[in-house]
Amino acid sequence: MTHPPANQLEIQFTRERIESRISELAAMLNQDYNGREIVVVGIMSGVVVFLSDLIRGLEVPVRLEFLNASSYRGKATSAGELAIDLSGLPTLTGKHVLLLDDIFDTGHTLSRMIEVISVMKPASLKSAVLLWKSERNETGLTPDYFGFQIPNRFVVGYGLDWDGLYRNLPDVRIIPE
Ligand code: IMP
Ligand code: MG
Repeated sequence: MTHPPANQLEIQFTRERIESRISELAAMLNQDYNGREIVVVGIMSGVVVFLSDLIRGLEVPVRLEFLNASSYRGKATSAGELAIDLSGLPTLTGKHVLLLDDIFDTGHTLSRMIEVISVMKPASLKSAVLLWKSERNETGLTPDYFGFQIPNRFVVGYGLDWDGLYRNLPDVRIIPE
């Protein structure tokens, strides 16, 4: 399939709707962390837009770290082949860690991240995602914070890509089946 022009893709969430939901998420996090310092660990690269909007709404002290994980090739999922690059990540022992990803699909990415970070014995470990394909969950795990639950459709924009494209779109749009 060729990559259609972005303006031909149906919008699922407008930038305004995303913005207002992210303010609500930030408010919840501010309340829950209650002044405690947190380490936000973002999973590259899909998280960058969500992360940069969310962290600017946070009023607790924030440190930022990034992890590379890749499980997707095009629109196909291959859950067993998750590659995680932990190099460059400082020890998270005793820290309040908030794992951030763009989307929770099968749950394998976050569940593997939680496994590897738990070993470091953080003071707490929570997860936040913008989108949650809740009917797809294969791990029994659920994200602690999420922006929107969505049906099992492939979406792009606001950081999410298809074959590396569309990450820059301000709205979340749907790729037709
Ligand atoms: P999981 O391990 O199946 O939960 O997949 C999570 C990762 O798959 C996300 O970090 C995304 O990079 C990618 N992904 C899952 N669904 C979509 C989608 O609809 N659009 C773009 N990327 C997706
Ligand atoms: Mg990703």
